[in-house]
Formats: sequence, structure tokens, C-alpha cells
Amino acid sequence: MAILIIGATGNIGRHLVNMLLESRQQLLLGVREPEKARAIWKHRASYIHFDFNEPETFEPALNQVERCFFIAPHDEPVDSVEVFLQHAQHLQQLTFSSGRTTGSVEGKPLNTIEKRIWDSFIPATVLRPGWFMQNFTGWIGEDIRAERKIVLPAGDSKTAFIDLRDIAEVAALSLIHGGHTGHTYELVSDQAFDHYQVAEMISQAIGQKVEYEPLGPLDYIKRMMKKGWTRDVAEHTVELYRLVMEGAEATITTDVEAILERKPRRLKAFIEEHKNQFR
Ligand SMILES: NC(=O)c1ccc[n+]([C@@H]2O[C@H](COP(=O)([O-])OP(=O)(O)OC[C@H]3O[C@@H](n4cnc5c(N)ncnc54)[C@H](OP(=O)(O)O)[C@@H]3O)[C@@H](O)[C@H]2O)c1
Repeated sequence: MAILIIGATGNIGRHLVNMLLESRQQLLLGVREPEKARAIWKHRASYIHFDFNEPETFEPALNQVERCFFIAPHDEPVDSVEVFLQHAQHLQQLTFSSGRTTGSVEGKPLNTIEKRIWDSFIPATVLRPGWFMQNFTGWIGEDIRAERKIVLPAGDSKTAFIDLRDIAEVAALSLIHGGHTGHTYELVSDQAFDHYQVAEMISQAIGQKVEYEPLGPLDYIKRMMKKGWTRDVAEHTVELYRLVMEGAEATITTDVEAILERKPRRLKAFIEEHKNQFR
């Protein structure tokens, strides 16, 4: 039977789909725009329209599978996820990728979704990844490329980052081999850095000075709104970094190494591998 992947076109999902296809798994991609996903993976997967805002799309997708991976989209629809779980009672494996910063904070949507999953008694695995290394080539990378700066409301707090490929590998294992039900894993690399150190690593890799400019919350919101972000997204990001500054992302865990039986990918190697994307 196929594995249902929700969030296939996203950061984690793309790596996960590619890894599962390499392992010759049969996949059903539950996506808002099947044609968009079909353009990427063509006949290698099957596609079904799925939208957390359209509860009538849940049953047709879930009925075809016994295993499922999902993320909560950015508007984090706790109520829709509850209905989704009602249709998912027959699953043998549900893997949910939550978040390290808010997955553990009482009252935050990702934490509420985690609780609903455990209350559902569906055999499940919860992944709580730290901040993605790929943010530095993605949305944070825009400032690096344009201004040779990392601009964030992160003060001098430390973060243990994670490579998306390690998250996807853990998710793939939980879906293919089982043996991970009932567990919550905190997925991070084995080192933590502040953003001055990250800027220095990127500077060394590209041979040009990149500076870290820490901003206060209001200045950051103003800056990002000028760049076109909505106030909601800017405020949400500031809130996440407030938790980072309290140390929510600083500690190292050994979960990736224990599951993958190898060291997690490291930030320095990631930067070296992707240095052309900072230029
Ligand atoms: N960025 C970080 O450093 C970080 C760190 C830890 C945790 N997280 C968490 O990771 C999650 C995001 O994962 P990601 O970065 O892999 O995703 P992403 O790149 O933000 O992509 C979102 C995915 O969800 C799909 N989607 C959006 N709205 C949907 C809806 N209403 N119904 C069904 N699918 C929908 C999108 O599909 P289409 O647009 O193609 O339809 C897309 O595939 C969030 O919960 C975030 O809080 C992020």
C-alpha cells in the first residue's frame, strides 16, 4: 500500500519524497495542486487533491493508505487536524513533523496538534526539528546575497541547526521500518552556534565578509514588512526568535545519531557544500 505524504512540495516533503522514491516506496501525494506536484515527480508517484481547509478531501486520501506523513501548514489549522485524525484511525503509522521551538510550548498550535495525535491512539511518531540549515540559503540567504548580512532578532542566542536531509531520513525510516511509534524526537545537529559564528563560517567559505546584525523585535518587524512580509508573519517570526533567545533551540540532542546510526550533518559542511548559493 502507498504512503500518503502531505506537504510533499515543501522543504521537508521534497527531500522525503525523493528518499522514499529511491527506496522504491509507492507514494500518494496529498497536495493542493496535483498538477504542480505531477510536474515534479511525473509518473513516479500518484496524486490526490488534499487541502486542510477542505475536510471533504481527507477521507478519499486516507482511505487508500495505512501510513502517512504530514506537517501543519503555516496557518496551523488545529481544528482541521482534529477532523483529519478522525479519518486516520485505521493508520498503522502516522509521522508528524512538528517544531522544536513551539512543539514543546503549552498552548502553541504545534503542541496542541501533538497532544491531539497522542490522544487519538493512532500509532505515531512526532519529529521536532530545530531551525533548518537551509534557511541560510533560503529566506535568510536573500540578505546574505544582497547585503552580505544576516539580519535577525536572535541576539547572541545559540541554535543547534538541522539539515533538512536528516529530518527527511528520520521520517523515511519511521515510515518504512516502523519501530519508532510512541516517540517524540528532537532533531538537531551535534553543535550549536550563535549567528556571529554562522556569519564567520559563511565569510570563510565564500572569501567575503558577511556580518551578523541583530535587530530588536520592532525594527525587525518594520524591516520585514518593508520587504513585503505581512505583519502576522513578521510577528510570528519574532515570537519564534523570542523563544530561541530564551534558549529553546540551544541544547544538543543525540536523537539523530541514535536513529540514523551516524553523526548528523554539520553546519560547516552544509555551508561549504552550498557556498555558491551565498554569492
Ligand atoms: N523553517 C524552519 O526552520 C522550521 C524549523 C522547525 C519546524 N518548522 C515547521 O515545519 C513546518 C513547515 O514545513 P516545511 O518547511 O517542510 O513546509 P513548507 O516548505 O513551508 O511548505 C508547506 C507545505 O504545506 C503545503 N500546504 C500549505 N497549505 C496547505 C493546506 N491548507 N493543505 C495541505 N497542504 C498545504 C504546501 O503545499 P502547496 O503550497 O504545494 O499546496 C507545502 O507543501 C511548519 O510547521 C514549521 O513551523 C520550520
